[in-house]
Amino acid sequence: MSTLRVEDLVVRFGKRTVVNGLTFDLAQGERVGIIGESGSGKTMTALAILDLLPAGANIQGGISLDGTALPLGDDREMSRLRGSRISMVFQEPLTSLNPLMPIWKQIALPLHRHHRCTRAEARARSEAWCAKVGLPQHAIPAYPHQLSGGQRQRVGIAIALCGEPGLVIADEPTSALDVTVQREILDLLLELTTQSKTSLIFISHDLAVINQMTSRVLVMHQGLLVEQGDTASVFAAPKDPYTDRLVSSAKRSAMALRELTGGPR
Ligand SMILES: Nc1ncnc2c1ncn2[C@@H]1O[C@H](COP(=O)(O)OP(=O)(O)O)[C@@H](O)[C@H]1O
Ligand SMILES: [Mg+2]
Repeated sequence: MSTLRVEDLVVRFGKRTVVNGLTFDLAQGERVGIIGESGSGKTMTALAILDLLPAGANIQGGISLDGTALPLGDDREMSRLRGSRISMVFQEPLTSLNPLMPIWKQIALPLHRHHRCTRAEARARSEAWCAKVGLPQHAIPAYPHQLSGGQRQRVGIAIALCGEPGLVIADEPTSALDVTVQREILDLLLELTTQSKTSLIFISHDLAVINQMTSRVLVMHQGLLVEQGDTASVFAAPKDPYTDRLVSSAKRSAMALRELTGGPR
């Protein structure tokens, strides 16, 4: 059974079309990547699925989850789905976390809301999630600004996964992090979503990261889906000229890096 179906999705700001007739399916437990240069419509696609598009956006097309159309525009119904059926890991957790609330409480809130457990149970589960995402003990009562960027993104992952959603959308979740930390966070996200068979839409402009995280990839260019397919095949033999440019440029960067570090070519 397919968990997500996006059909002919169009997002417009006034006369400007930023997502132009996007159609794709996501099977249960599948990990799909979306690549494309900045401004190609990746984030607007993610926000459309969560019904969190900015004011002024006009949306058309259908989005369904497990065969049922999402109640787009119905705030009450959508907020019930967010966190429990679909959730999102944002690029910069500092802006998505509440600066005035201790970490444990930010994880306990969705647990309390979606699982209807008591406050004490929510706190205990929140602490268990902190351990699960590799946060140190002292992070539990801390505030977001007291944590490192990597630790904050661990919190973002805990918040996204604690409601046990069937689908997680991660939008450039490690772009704001140092490369060394990036790897740890990606491994964590991959491990936890694989364990729980959670479907994943992973958005990035970094082809190496997409290659690590996904088995299928959608290539977006100026709001259009220009190519899709098995990630390894698309990167090995791109069919669309735009994909070809992205892949060649990524290969040139990788080659330059090997030259710089004296590694094998
Ligand atoms: N609030 C907004 N009002 C008008 N245009 C917007 C708004 N938000 C985003 N856009 C435009 O939508 C296009 C797609 O943006 P986005 O989906 O964020 O791209 P990206 O692929 O980099 O994530 C961009 O050209 C951007 O300028
Ligand atoms: Mg974006």
